Amino acid sequence: MKIAVLKETADGERRVSATPETVRKLIALGATVAVEAGAGADASISDSDYEAAGAAVAARAAAVAGADAILSVQGPEPGSLGGTAPGALIVGALDPFRQRERVDLYAAAGLEALAMELMPRITRAQTMDILSSQSNLSGYKAVLDAASEYGRAFPMMMTAAGTIAAARVFVMGVGVAGLQAIATARRLGAIVSATDVRAATREQIESLGAKAIFVDKVAGIEGEGSGGYATEMSDEYKAAQAELVSSHIAKQDIVVTTALIPGRPAPRLISDSQLATMRPGSVVVDLAVEQGGNVEGARPGEVVERHGVRIVGHRNVPSRLAADSSAFYARNLYNFLSAFWDKEAGRVVLPDEDEIVKGVRLTKGGAVVNERLLQG
Ligand code: NAI
Repeated sequence: MKIAVLKETADGERRVSATPETVRKLIALGATVAVEAGAGADASISDSDYEAAGAAVAARAAAVAGADAILSVQGPEPGSLGGTAPGALIVGALDPFRQRERVDLYAAAGLEALAMELMPRITRAQTMDILSSQSNLSGYKAVLDAASEYGRAFPMMMTAAGTIAAARVFVMGVGVAGLQAIATARRLGAIVSATDVRAATREQIESLGAKAIFVDKVAGIEGEGSGGYATEMSDEYKAAQAELVSSHIAKQDIVVTTALIPGRPAPRLISDSQLATMRPGSVVVDLAVEQGGNVEGARPGEVVERHGVRIVGHRNVPSRLAADSSAFYARNLYNFLSAFWDKEAGRVVLPDEDEIVKGVRLTKGGAVVNERLLQG
């Protein structure tokens, strides 16, 4: 089985879908690996590192020629994949709901597209979960981005020149990114509080040494839907949450928002009038900015100022830590491929009835086959 690793072409994408470590492991399984020249450059991996791991380094056309699987971070243009083996696997974060046309082109080309972000959240798939591995780093980086925009220090400091107070950090949305944001802000010495709609997060917040800020006494507070994800909340809940946030936010220096609801735009958590109550010099980082934003006025790819508050809206935050996010991502892909490696056939075999395969497979045999995609 020949596996090709592409150099990413999307604007601002610095990650790569295989590292020398995963190349070695793929070869140990029995695959041959071709890496497109320069694929790892932005993640601090040189072509010679890949060669030392046993990969052939080549231009795109030669790398994909005869390939049975193509590894990528963002979905490659179907037109750039000429010469692959029939039915080749396209493995990546293919963004199928927003890139539906591209998915149709994969199908028309007879390619088997596998969207790794649709990985079911079951125990067996935890090591293949790109959303978790990348969100974890986003949560960390969001706090560092906030710290670098903030004109004050995070920890309390008692010095001969006087004392400065610890920063107050509020994390909204305590999934994978939010938990890492809490832990990171605590390590920097901030006083941290956090909120979520899923009641299960209360204990997690407290176990990290942060204060849980929750809407109580509202019917239907339990916002947990299927697969551990949040659901859309009632109007009554939203009103109670807005009131709670308003009184809390005015006392915060840093807010990091991470709230997402699968298949819907991100919930609006902070309004312009709430921003106006914050101290000038405060910083708000909106990690949901590319999904519509949790913060009014946040703009994708920009740092904007409203009422003296900086709103940070970096796109593709994992790519800002490309070496580590690539290492995690590459391992997620390796774990997926190796779980389905058939020793006798010497290749990946994906059983139609497997829950993981059903979750991630978008196209097969010339057609779109993914249930979620066909429904939505
Ligand atoms: P996510 O990225 O979809 O959302 C981030 C957070 O925002 C969630 O905690 C969500 O509850 C919260 N949120 C949504 N609407 C909100 C609102 N209006 N106000 C405040 N918060 C709001 O979630 P993520 O990080 O992907 O994971 C959610 C949970 O899924 C994890 O905490 C974990 O329990 C579970 N999980 C399970 C896995 C597995 O079993 N393989 C793997 C990863 C996560």
